[in-house]
Amino acid sequence: MNCSTVFVGSKGQIRINAGHPWVFRSDIRAAGDARPGDVVRVSGPHGRHLGFAFFSSRSEITLRMLTREAELSEHFLEERIAAALSWRRIIAAGADAYRIIHGEGDGLPSFIVDRYGDFVVIQTLSQAGERLKARLVEALLTSLHPRGVIERNDPRVRLLEGLDRRVGVLHGTVPEIVEIDESGVLFQADLYHGQKTGLFLDQRENHVSSREYAHGRVLDAFTYNGGFGLHAARSAAEVVAVDVSTTAVARVARNADRNGLNNVVAREANVFDLLRDFERRGELFDTVFLDPPAFAKSRDAVDKARRGYNEINRRALRLLAPGGCLVTCSCSYHVSETDFEALIEKAALDAGVSLQFVEKRRQARDHPIIMGVPETHYLKCFILRRTP
Ligand SMILES: C[S@@+](CC[C@H](N)C(=O)[O-])C[C@H]1O[C@@H](n2cnc3c(N)ncnc32)[C@H](O)[C@@H]1O
Repeated sequence: MNCSTVFVGSKGQIRINAGHPWVFRSDIRAAGDARPGDVVRVSGPHGRHLGFAFFSSRSEITLRMLTREAELSEHFLEERIAAALSWRRIIAAGADAYRIIHGEGDGLPSFIVDRYGDFVVIQTLSQAGERLKARLVEALLTSLHPRGVIERNDPRVRLLEGLDRRVGVLHGTVPEIVEIDESGVLFQADLYHGQKTGLFLDQRENHVSSREYAHGRVLDAFTYNGGFGLHAARSAAEVVAVDVSTTAVARVARNADRNGLNNVVAREANVFDLLRDFERRGELFDTVFLDPPAFAKSRDAVDKARRGYNEINRRALRLLAPGGCLVTCSCSYHVSETDFEALIEKAALDAGVSLQFVEKRRQARDHPIIMGVPETHYLKCFILRRTP
């Protein structure tokens, strides 16, 4: 590919050779005539070819690696979309809503593409993504023939790239609410305003797997639109689904109705307060789901996050009946799987309960984790059982 060359220093070269997909501004030696959002050739301090990358003139993440090979096809975008799609035909066969492109995990850093039935949501979160947006949409139209494509380009990270935040339809029409079927449970998704791109698709496989353990009285804390709770409600006696967001709670109630589930109570509350309150009243549950937002959004916030995870897990364990199951998650990538396990172990000691490990799960397989790149493994989901 014919393009400008960006030179990195020795630290950048070491990172690239170790397979890391990002090079920071401090590791750039010279950017030559590279323009915002270009695909550039990357060279080491002594001129050694290191690969090709997306270049950003604004972000601290100046290079997002595309390949360490000697050449990059002119059609890399279309080829990588096709490769991502054919893998989804295997790992998301039969799914209605799933992630088609997960940035670095699919070799297209800063690109997100989610499918919700006949509709597609895209995010292009870098200057290069913005430059290639029309080509991305064209390729998706050709391969998927969606009725509508919407851009959810409202994440704040776009500001770091000097890009605006916007939401808008790029092709066809997209209704306010799209209904999808997640392994037998119907969910209504708001593709314009919902959290993430509408639903937490990264929990799709965990929703389905954990429902086989759900029984008796269930607490789904941090429920959003009922992700875990509605699956659990099919076999449980009662589900209390809690979220602090008024719109999320209203949607849980509507989703429960749509599925003909009359054993779901949707409550608007702060989970921290509610757990304390339940504990004081001696309430007991047979199954508890804990799926909080990322408590540690940065490395500096890890200590506070640890206290938050300890508090909710300790209190939840005190509410758990003997033989009951706790499904506990963390989507903070600054808290590793090992850290999270240690945190839960400490919470169990503090709560005075003993736990069996049932399953150690991660984000759904359509959100690929790259070995050696810990940032790509952000979601931990442990299924534990209180020893009877
Ligand atoms: C990771 S999402 C939950 C996703 C959901 N469990 C699912 O599988 O679809 C976290 C949710 O926690 C809610 N939330 C954040 N802080 C909260 C708090 N202190 N109490 C209750 N809910 C909270 C957010 O509104 C958001 O819906």
